[in-house]
Amino acid sequence: MRMTDLIAKKRDGQALTTDEIRYMITDYTAGIIPDYQMSSMCMAILLRGMNDREVLDLTLAMQHSGDVLDLSPIQGIKADKHSTGGVGDKTSLVLCPMVAACGLKIAKMSGRGLGHTGGTIDKLESFPGFSTALTEEQFFENVNRHGIAIMGQTANLVPADKKLYALRDVTGTVPSIPLIVSSIMSKKLASGADVIVLDVKCGDGSFMKTAEDAEELARNLTRIGRLAGKKCAAIITDMDQPLGYAVGNALEVREAIAVLKGEEEGDLLRLCLALGSCMLTEAGYASDHDAAERMLLDAVKSGRALDKLAEMVTAQGGDASAVYRPELLPAAPVICEVPSPRAGTVSRIHAEAVGLVSMKLGGGRATKEDVIDPRVGVVLHKKLGDAVAEGESLASIHAADEKSAAEAARQLLDCYELCDGEVVRPPFIRKILRGDV
Ligand code: URA
Repeated sequence: MRMTDLIAKKRDGQALTTDEIRYMITDYTAGIIPDYQMSSMCMAILLRGMNDREVLDLTLAMQHSGDVLDLSPIQGIKADKHSTGGVGDKTSLVLCPMVAACGLKIAKMSGRGLGHTGGTIDKLESFPGFSTALTEEQFFENVNRHGIAIMGQTANLVPADKKLYALRDVTGTVPSIPLIVSSIMSKKLASGADVIVLDVKCGDGSFMKTAEDAEELARNLTRIGRLAGKKCAAIITDMDQPLGYAVGNALEVREAIAVLKGEEEGDLLRLCLALGSCMLTEAGYASDHDAAERMLLDAVKSGRALDKLAEMVTAQGGDASAVYRPELLPAAPVICEVPSPRAGTVSRIHAEAVGLVSMKLGGGRATKEDVIDPRVGVVLHKKLGDAVAEGESLASIHAADEKSAAEAARQLLDCYELCDGEVVRPPFIRKILRGDV
């Protein structure tokens, strides 16, 4: 087989065979096929597309390019969740304990973040001592015993994706549905869960800018997941403003705790109820979505969801005191307010720009080597459609020093747009795709 022939085949709009796709991924991962040929293939795929069989073959070939986690030592059904990423996205911190408190096992591999805030792992490391460096055996044991564990991604999980994603990033070939689907689903399949629920964001702070593009991606992700034998559902949610109020690691943990305590009832709780009910129904733990939502709300009201978070933090070596006393979480020495320059209604919050403010404060990484400061970030007080008086605070900046606080406050003002009159917010949950794709 010659890569040149495969490139020409795809360039001319033909489908690649299963063997051709396997050869291409195996030899690219092994360094036999060079980057210049693979980038040409990625562009041909971007322009010509792939049918479902090809996308499935590509996904499976990538899944098997490295370690594949076999979760069979864990009894019962195992669920996992994936988010296409967004600003202030602390969903896993709330969703996972809530679902585990309803009896469904959560076996989750998470990454560290590159960009505006840390990933789930960085956020959880706000608890002193918390570690996601679990061996497979510890991971299995924790899920069996506590119903939940979150582990860092193993170094050799889908090496094909590590190479391919870096290549796509510099060759203009990221926005191809077949390439995105195979990239995301190969990692989810390699992580081994039976039920996969996807949170696909659309809007300013996300990867897919329009609801239509996000829906197309969500349909393709769930279809390929099902063709690979998994229970799969997806939710399309609005990212035209940050999710919830906090952006920054310990600040997001604090907000997640407030939701788990039943103290906050906004978009974040709604999203976790929707994702959680997809998980419980797909796993057969609830007969329908209303029943699933009742189970999840009961887990919150009874305190079981919060206790589950504390149980997981303790089981992974962390000090869980802050779950019950969030004032013990790392806190920034400088907090300053961002007063509104005029009265009006919030008509836009540039989510990505808010994320960048948090990153510059030290809450995210520009490069893999950067060290995250868990204390810093932004807490919004006003969100889309909220009325604000002149001089009233739009947000608080949590910073390591006065200088970075003042700089962040200036930048945060540019993230807000105000208008006169009312602003109608688009629905936060755009669509839920269950068994209907
Ligand atoms: N996230 C991924 O993991 N892969 C993509 O291709 C895009 C987003």
